[in-house]
Amino acid sequence: MRASDKINETRLWQRHVDMAQLGGLPKGGVNRQALSAEDAAARRLLGQWAQARGYDVFSDPIGNLHVRRAGTENDAAPVLTGSHMDSQPTGGKYDGMYGVLAGFEALEALDDAGIRTKRPVGVVAWMNEEGSRFQPGAMGSAVWAGHYDLERMLAVEDRAGVKLADALAQTLVAAPCRTVGEFDRRFHAYIEAHIEQGPRLEAEAKTIGVVTGIQGSQRYTIDIFGEEAHAGTTPLRSRKDALKSAVAAIEALERHMHDPADIVRFTVGRFECRPGSPNTVPGQVHFTIDFRHPESAVLARLGDAIDKVVQASVGPCTAKVERVVNVAPTVFDAKIVDRVREATVELGLPHMDMPSGAGHDAMHVAPLGPAGMIFVPCVRGISHNEAEAASPSDLAAGARVLADCLHALADS
Ligand code: GLV
Ligand code: MN
Ligand code: MN
Repeated sequence: MRASDKINETRLWQRHVDMAQLGGLPKGGVNRQALSAEDAAARRLLGQWAQARGYDVFSDPIGNLHVRRAGTENDAAPVLTGSHMDSQPTGGKYDGMYGVLAGFEALEALDDAGIRTKRPVGVVAWMNEEGSRFQPGAMGSAVWAGHYDLERMLAVEDRAGVKLADALAQTLVAAPCRTVGEFDRRFHAYIEAHIEQGPRLEAEAKTIGVVTGIQGSQRYTIDIFGEEAHAGTTPLRSRKDALKSAVAAIEALERHMHDPADIVRFTVGRFECRPGSPNTVPGQVHFTIDFRHPESAVLARLGDAIDKVVQASVGPCTAKVERVVNVAPTVFDAKIVDRVREATVELGLPHMDMPSGAGHDAMHVAPLGPAGMIFVPCVRGISHNEAEAASPSDLAAGARVLADCLHALADS
């Protein structure tokens, strides 16, 4: 019997329904930001399901939640899967959660098929992939992989001044589990399932995206400093209006990033103006840049010039530009990509090879060992939006591919 034969579409769908209650929003999405009470509730629920199956559940020092199904050789490097349970502030029900639940469904399918694997198989719910509350995102996987410093990340504060270390401690009290003091970075292979978050699979009527890599990404914080002044009395010529300068800087950046081929992705997703009073000339603006491209050379050329472009456009104000994320493009291991494609072909599912436009925890895992991803379609490619939707059968199809891949890898 194949593991995929025991993937249970109804059970997998119901688990999404149950998780969507935690941080559920009126328009159908979720707000389950990292280390919030809602995130803790999701961890508790996953932990309960795992304990009911007799799987080991533990947290590592940055709060990644690990569920581990034993192998016959428990000292062998595990095969890992997973994704994230945190969401955007107005996120969908599937972004991240699907990869965790598909992984969990695969473990249950292995059980239900009576399969004992040589290697342990683990599902990881990576802490803070979205980076909405604590920056930068994909933090749990980056610390686990040794790319970001643990102590520096524990000291990061959210906008309310709450330290990540304190939010993590609170989360672990609310969702208790065994905590291990060290990162175990050994793994035989890693495969992450995710909704595509773009329109290509649906447009091409494919059920499975065999993911070949992830485009590179950079993030910046920009602070513009002007001078607060009275809106009724201060002549325009003597103002240092931080908002005017920020608008000019963003316009200049839009021109700098203009790409007739529409491959460059440039987004200003957060913009804060202080003090935010109608009759005070703004003294300070903070905004963020999220910028992505599949090629390192283009990322370097456009990214390295951001500071110059901003400085040249802020007039009487001053600007501080800081690059806070710089992740190189990821090329997934050819053997894992082939394995995903083979499992898909064996299941007779329509598929296509494709790169990922979105970032995923797999990008931090991939430099350490063989990694890859499986995409399933989402309706009209909509994601980072409460309207995000996916069909039960597509979700189950991706879980079938995942289960067969994990099974094969865990016996190799
Ligand atoms: C992940 O959420 C991303 O921003 O790519
Ligand atoms: Mn995601
Ligand atoms: Mn996301």
